[in-house]
Amino acid sequence: MAIVEHSDLPPLADVIEPRFWSGVSATDPATFTIDARIFADRTAPTDGALARAMQQTFDRVGLVHVVNTGLTELVDMRALATLVVETEMVYDGGSNPRDRIAPNVYEVGAPLGAWLHYHHEMAYVGTSTKVIGFLCKDALPDRGATYVSDSVAVTDAILETELGRKLKDLGVCYHRNLTDRDAYVGKVEYGVYNHWQKSFGTDDPAVAARKARQQRLAVDWDDDRLMKTRYYCPAFEYFEPLGRNLLYSSLADHGMWFDRWPLVQHLPYDQRPLHMTFGDDTEFTDAERQQWIDLYDRFGTKLDVAVGDVVIICNYRFAHGRPGIHLADGEARTLGVVLGHQYDRVGVRHDAW
Ligand SMILES: [Fe+2]
Repeated sequence: MAIVEHSDLPPLADVIEPRFWSGVSATDPATFTIDARIFADRTAPTDGALARAMQQTFDRVGLVHVVNTGLTELVDMRALATLVVETEMVYDGGSNPRDRIAPNVYEVGAPLGAWLHYHHEMAYVGTSTKVIGFLCKDALPDRGATYVSDSVAVTDAILETELGRKLKDLGVCYHRNLTDRDAYVGKVEYGVYNHWQKSFGTDDPAVAARKARQQRLAVDWDDDRLMKTRYYCPAFEYFEPLGRNLLYSSLADHGMWFDRWPLVQHLPYDQRPLHMTFGDDTEFTDAERQQWIDLYDRFGTKLDVAVGDVVIICNYRFAHGRPGIHLADGEARTLGVVLGHQYDRVGVRHDAW
């Protein structure tokens, strides 16, 4: 299969590349970094002192980065992460193809070379996750950082803008085009992100449609059994521990997610596997998209991850993302994903702005 390399691509005038931070972390790493070396139980985690420190940090900041764990295996890092990520979810109906790389540890589900815009995990379906964890299996010495953005600060800032007021009033619509696996047998998968069979774990279109509707998606079928779903929802989500609505949407779910994805980037936005509009189906202007990207970047924090590191992120209080990563021969950069606390979105509370 011919894959178009990043460096071979023509410049795209309308492509907005995120910067992810200002150059200085908006959230002080001292507030969320735990050095596991000071805990006797770091390699055999129990509900001891390290677990309490992780939980307290998570509750206070919404973010924990455990460093110097001495761990090298995903299964052990997962055990550490699950001290905070109590209930793991079955990954079902997500829009991106995500395989397991160890028991109950998923791959990131995106090409390394593409930048991943800031996002809240699974914001585009009715059932989301409260927590996401990253486990570092392979790291690069000089690059490969991941980033988080303070969504509380972004919420305050965006609500001061006309864009924020439109998002508050109109909400958003997530559009998805899920391809039919059987239509691509033996073919190069142009325009393919995820087949509905894989996303919904079934070969039966009726079952896939039923599962989609259970997630409050509107379903239409197009030619070649192309499954088209729409999900209208608020751009914000009520977060009970802080008693307020927080921004829970980002342009990661816009067609621009694929601006540097081989086999997809040639399509116009509305034909890409994911697209996003305001809740009245109108498009975001270029200026609105730039403004939204800039806001997440302004409140971004860089996380340098080393082998064994465990990062646990409150999916309400922080968005996550990263630049594209290009590997030289012999290099590897692998993060495992742990998802937890599946919940049904409640939307916004009108008395909690
Ligand atoms: Fe993610």
